[in-house]
Amino acid sequence: MALLADSRVLVVGGSSGIGLAVACACVGAGAKVTIASRSQSKLAEAVRSLGSTARTAVLDTADEDGVAAFFRDHEAFDHVVVSAAQTPSGPLRQLPLEQARSAMDSKFWGAYRIARFARLSERASLTFISGFLSERPSANAVLQGAINAALEALGRGLALELSPVRVNVVSPGMIDTPLWSKLDPAARNAMFERAAASLPAKAVGQPTDIANAVLFAMTTLFATGSTIRVDGGATIG
Ligand SMILES: NC(=O)c1ccc[n+]([C@@H]2O[C@H](COP(=O)([O-])OP(=O)(O)OC[C@H]3O[C@@H](n4cnc5c(N)ncnc54)[C@H](OP(=O)(O)O)[C@@H]3O)[C@@H](O)[C@H]2O)c1
Repeated sequence: MALLADSRVLVVGGSSGIGLAVACACVGAGAKVTIASRSQSKLAEAVRSLGSTARTAVLDTADEDGVAAFFRDHEAFDHVVVSAAQTPSGPLRQLPLEQARSAMDSKFWGAYRIARFARLSERASLTFISGFLSERPSANAVLQGAINAALEALGRGLALELSPVRVNVVSPGMIDTPLWSKLDPAARNAMFERAAASLPAKAVGQPTDIANAVLFAMTTLFATGSTIRVDGGATIG
């Protein structure tokens, strides 16, 4: 990963799960990494696992002025990864519209705001994280699929508009991250076991599986406008 050595990397949503795994891999490749998210305490805990070279920034992707100010105050980044999202989910007729809108605002508009204000070096990369529901809808999570599909379309379009900046999207399947920690442990384990049994890969993914794909997108100079599926075969299974 020589391409990452000394490069300036920002991981929005880097305090947990997939974003933290990306940050860890980038630190390992010699990059100067900043992780950003809303919670100072989560950032402080995450940076302990990343080592003293990583920096932190409290940033809420919902806060347009905050996002603009963050990029005004920082030098251009060589790679920006957006893994930040908090997306309430539920059936169409039960999920209150306000919560449905907040899901879109968090994941789609959050990524859009970062793209809109990011100061990027000339040959930078921008990588979004979507999710396999964009291609394989679930009757229980229709909104998630729509948000992920919108994000993938945004990535393809921005690859044209922001060229020569490269824009890619990584689409995970079910990954064992703190996203699922609100479920009680027995229910979560049962869900993971069911998912693993049904998937061609016969396993639930790990954050490092997605980090590998993100680093591929960051360092492969011919990759732009791509959506890279890493879903254990969920889309084909
Ligand atoms: N895990 C899966 O099975 C799975 C599957 C498909 C797709 N995905 C997608 O992968 C992405 C990462 O998920 P994950 O599993 O890594 O979740 P996670 O462990 O919950 O991490 C989410 C990260 O986003 C940050 N965040 C949330 N809202 C934010 C905001 N408004 N502004 C800034 N930071 C914010 C959180 O930190 P703070 O709380 O400190 O803000 C945290 O660092 C999400 O887009 C998710 O939809 C995950």
